Amino acid sequence: MNRIITIDGPSGSGKGTIAGLVALRLGWHLLDSGALYRLAGLAAGRAGVGFDQSQVLADLVLGLEVEFRDGQVFLGGEDVSLAIRTERAGNAASKVAAVPEVRAALLQWQRDYAREPGLVADGRDMGTVVFPEAPVKVYLTATAVERARRRYNQLKEKGLDASLADLITEIRERDERDRSRAVAPLKPAPDALEVESTALTIEEVSKRVLDKVLETYPDLRDEGA
Ligand code: DC
Repeated sequence: MNRIITIDGPSGSGKGTIAGLVALRLGWHLLDSGALYRLAGLAAGRAGVGFDQSQVLADLVLGLEVEFRDGQVFLGGEDVSLAIRTERAGNAASKVAAVPEVRAALLQWQRDYAREPGLVADGRDMGTVVFPEAPVKVYLTATAVERARRRYNQLKEKGLDASLADLITEIRERDERDRSRAVAPLKPAPDALEVESTALTIEEVSKRVLDKVLETYPDLRDEGA
């Protein structure tokens, strides 16, 4: 299965939105890998497992009972869709994501999402580690302030509490942790299309990505994409 599009980038760069739009437009599967790290972070916090207990964390991840159903996420039967979207869960995710054993535990799980008719995978290392053979790779960025502003609006829309100043600080800290970790650091794949989205609309970004997709898979035009 080589119909894979990877969309990587830092927090708040718009990857999730763009990946969702592209997957919907093509009728392809969607992998939100950040959700898996968020679930791992949430489960670790609840179980009281420290971020330094790498093997315990990896075993915890392998035992997670996760279900994605009707746009909601369930952990052990409980709807945790909102719980995994808080900044606290995002920070816990970023910490468990720095543990090599956790990343190894999630690797095959993520690769199993590659199914016909195709997959759009969103994360930090989709193009560099999980699907290095993907024919279309995108790396989305925006300034930290713009990304914090987007996150602020998203959280407010969901009725969650937020402070813009705190978000800017947290985004910078998380960027630093995601970029500097030893294993699978956040960085563009050498063959990725880089899109700086600070001054672009969602439509403009998704058009650039879809243009690249149709250039790579011209047969999709005949399929009506
Ligand atoms: O995309 P997100 O904000 O939901 O991701 C939450 C955290 O998970 C992020 O700070 C880093 C980590 N992550 C990762 O290390 N690798 C991925 N492929 C996806 C997310």
